[in-house]
Amino acid sequence: MKFTTSILFCFGSLSSTLALSIAEINGPAFISPYKDQTVANVTGLVTAVGSSGFYLRDLPSVKKPKKLDGSSAIYVYGSSSAKQVAVGDVITLSGKVEEYRSNDLYIPLTEITGARDILKVSSGNTVEPIDLSKLKIPTEQYSKLDDGNIFGVPNNQALISVVNATLEPKKYGLDFWESLVGELVYVKDPAALGKTSNYGDVWVRSKSWKATGLNKRGGLTISASGNDKKTDANPEAIVIGSPALDNTRNPSNIKLGDTLGPLTGVVTYAFGFYRIIPTTALTVTNSATSDYPATSLKSSGSCSGLSVGQYNVENLTPKSAHIPGIASHIVNKLNSPDLLFLQEVQDNDGTTNSGTVSANETLSTLISAIAEAGGVTYNFVDISPSNNQDGGAPGGNIRVSYLYNPSILSLRNPNPGDATTAITVSKGLKGVPELSLNPGRIAPAEAAWTASRKPLVAAFNVKGSSSPLFTINVHFGSKGGSSSTQGDARPPINGGVEDRLAQATLLKNFVNDITAIDANAKIIAAGDFNEFPFVAPMLVIEDNKFRNIDEVAGIKEEERYSYGYDGNCQQLDNMFVSKGVWKGRGVRAYEHVHVNTWAGNEQVSDHDPAVGILDVC
Ligand SMILES: *[C@@H]1O[C@H](CO)[C@@H](O)[C@H](O)[C@H]1NC(C)=O
Ligand SMILES: *[C@@H]1O[C@H](CO)[C@@H](O)[C@H](O)[C@H]1NC(C)=O
Ligand SMILES: *[C@@H]1O[C@H](CO)[C@@H](O)[C@H](O)[C@H]1NC(C)=O
Repeated sequence: MKFTTSILFCFGSLSSTLALSIAEINGPAFISPYKDQTVANVTGLVTAVGSSGFYLRDLPSVKKPKKLDGSSAIYVYGSSSAKQVAVGDVITLSGKVEEYRSNDLYIPLTEITGARDILKVSSGNTVEPIDLSKLKIPTEQYSKLDDGNIFGVPNNQALISVVNATLEPKKYGLDFWESLVGELVYVKDPAALGKTSNYGDVWVRSKSWKATGLNKRGGLTISASGNDKKTDANPEAIVIGSPALDNTRNPSNIKLGDTLGPLTGVVTYAFGFYRIIPTTALTVTNSATSDYPATSLKSSGSCSGLSVGQYNVENLTPKSAHIPGIASHIVNKLNSPDLLFLQEVQDNDGTTNSGTVSANETLSTLISAIAEAGGVTYNFVDISPSNNQDGGAPGGNIRVSYLYNPSILSLRNPNPGDATTAITVSKGLKGVPELSLNPGRIAPAEAAWTASRKPLVAAFNVKGSSSPLFTINVHFGSKGGSSSTQGDARPPINGGVEDRLAQATLLKNFVNDITAIDANAKIIAAGDFNEFPFVAPMLVIEDNKFRNIDEVAGIKEEERYSYGYDGNCQQLDNMFVSKGVWKGRGVRAYEHVHVNTWAGNEQVSDHDPAVGILDVC
């Protein structure tokens, strides 16, 4: 490598040095070798101009030194500089190289600030974007520092900005996008990977790029596959920022699966992600339907074909505007499951911080709405938490609850527990496991549940069956405090994972308490685990006796999703079934019902529900 430029500062005089190419300024790694240094007479072609800066690319005549895989373009920050140039100008300038980030969790962006001595060499030159479909975009791994698993625990073991590894753009997604930072690029055939965000951002892939994890809807699902369980978190997805360089804004109603018009834009990094700022806002060329078809799964009306659903109903209160929408989903899309595991039911006065903890009006209001929509008249089961002890929005006292069809299920020997009493299991008559409380909560005093929902255990008698059905409804601690998939920390910070690990252990211990008494006990644990099925906490729960129903039902990996986030379809909502349920084809069918991930900004809840048909006789 010929880095003649290293003499630049030994002489301490700018006028006696050779000018650097932009590729040399960017260098071979994430952090510029000229960080915080002044560079003079940098020559380049202006490829795009925004209101607070412009984008400069090495001239075609500049030969990129071998093994220099960084970008040949750079952002020149400053609104007054931007006013002095136009697209197609070839200019020279001097300025300071900076590594900018607005938050320590982000990867720094190399840019030139304080540009001066801007000289126009020529104007009206042709500007061609780089066609990304001509490049090989990594589709699975983000960074070498993730060691094959972006969801690895422990996480935050290394920082991109500190390790400053040499870029390997053919292998790793972050390296790929870093190698294009500042470039003007062209995206052929873009398709939306989620809904327009509150900021107007839209995640896309291109139908002309290779993709892994592609689901039927056209989204990208994260997964772990292969013998080595390497995770695939879809670095081929890229966010398209808003406003565009011309200040137009992306449509606010884009949704997963929409086909978009081709776009040209500049690659940059902001708010935790590499992104393309388009020259002009996105257009929708084909709008996908937001209407997910009703499930074909139906209850048989007895234990041989019990329908069991789950739904995170997103901060439901008696006054929620989305109650009719939730009720309609339960009736018209889920066929009124016999048993429903709900999460995020708030107390009767919602987030009013009044000391009210009961949710009987919230649940009664939902039950009435379901009946009005032509569904089953359900009964409910819940236990109110101690005021403000279970996390969620302050004053809301969210909890998990069951709805059940009283013509098919009944609570077995009801003996309701309270917020603070731990449920236990003992051997009853004929060796049947019996609960000390019904319903009851698992180990509520354990530190693992601080500011989090405690699992709600119940035992039901099911029509046609002589043995109890045990259920555990969960809503594990949130992922708050996580860093982005494209952040500085590797693997990214998975907020709350230690709590979820401890919660998973308590849950599994309880399951084991039941199966120790009856290895064939019928147990279903379901809800919002706030974790993907292949990440550490879930692996504590899953074993060959207590299995994830997606595995048992053979749902294709790409179709396992219940949530859309940062360009990825992902599964936070899971259901586990004991051997007593899954053996002998006890799991007849299972379906993630994508009523919300498909609905764009018209979604009723942020999570999709799911429903299964189980033989629990
Ligand atoms: C930069 O350009 C100016 C004007 O052409 C010249 O006088 C100066 O020597 C150049 N400096 C370097 C470092 O090339
Ligand atoms: C980053 O790596 C480049 C290339 O190896 C090196 O020149 C530069 O000094 C490094 N910067 C930091 C902050 O480590
Ligand atoms: C809720 O519970 C309170 C206290 O037990 C009772 O007075 C009220 O009628 C209940 N409301 C509904 C809608 O069931």
